[in-house]
Amino acid sequence: MSSPKAPVLPEELDKICRRMRLPYLRKAAPDVLATARAQRWDPAEVLRVLLSEEVSGRDSATRRQRRKTANFPTGKTFSSWLPEESTIPEPTQNALSTLEWVGRHENLVVAGASGTGKSHFVEALAHSAIENDLRVSWFTLESLANTIGKAKADGSIARAVARICSCDLIVCDDIGMLPVGPEAAEAFYRVIDAAYERRSIAVTSNIHPSSLGRGLRRRRRRRRDDRPPRPPRRGHRPQRRQLPAQEPRPRPRPRRRHN
Ligand SMILES: Nc1ncnc2c1ncn2[C@@H]1O[C@H](COP(=O)(O)OP(=O)(O)OP(=O)(O)O)[C@@H](O)[C@H]1O
Ligand SMILES: [Mg+2]
Repeated sequence: MSSPKAPVLPEELDKICRRMRLPYLRKAAPDVLATARAQRWDPAEVLRVLLSEEVSGRDSATRRQRRKTANFPTGKTFSSWLPEESTIPEPTQNALSTLEWVGRHENLVVAGASGTGKSHFVEALAHSAIENDLRVSWFTLESLANTIGKAKADGSIARAVARICSCDLIVCDDIGMLPVGPEAAEAFYRVIDAAYERRSIAVTSNIHPSSLGRGLRRRRRRRRDDRPPRPPRRGHRPQRRQLPAQEPRPRPRPRRRHN
């Protein structure tokens, strides 16, 4: 037996919901109102349930959109991750999956041999970040170089870097798989520099972190003359200023007591 169909929303109410752009509330309203009538809900409860429908609908639409713009390669999450199969110690996996390090703007480097699950693990972390209402962008060194290269062509590098750094977590996957060209090195440098202590960067690589900068450094040294001027680092080391000599502060006069 099928359950009785909820009566359609009165036309006037339907119109108001459209005008107010409340699509999720409008969709849930017939069922919620039918239940509220049958169970004699308090009017405040009806309002709460309807507005909650709208809020959760909007939140999941935002997450869907963020997942789309993040540009994930496979869509793999922790649901298909086997923690005991990984060489990353489980306490480390657990600590990283809290995402507290993203809140502290710390960076993550996952290094290891090919096929050991580096990309899967970081993508799972990135999905989890989106579930926690954070913004993520996913790059390979090549796609990062393309993005910055295009921006360079139309003179909008600063805007492109700012857009990337509007994300809470920036992933650069599979560094070291291909030789690093000067464009890629520059793009990586610009993002790392702009994100310094403001955003989290996660890097996966099949080369050891101690050798990670070597290729990039070698390229940059060769191009010393034509590399872009280095923007000042925000919040890096506060500049010392000489403050003007000050007169001794006048002492506050003792207050008179009125009895
Ligand atoms: N602990 C794990 N749990 C579940 N799947 C895993 C795990 N480790 C690896 N895999 C699977 O193994 C395959 C290879 O993993 P992945 O592509 O993440 O490796 P990688 O370390 O990034 O390799 P590369 O250095 O070549 O990019 C994927 O299908 C991934 O889902
Ligand atoms: Mg990988």
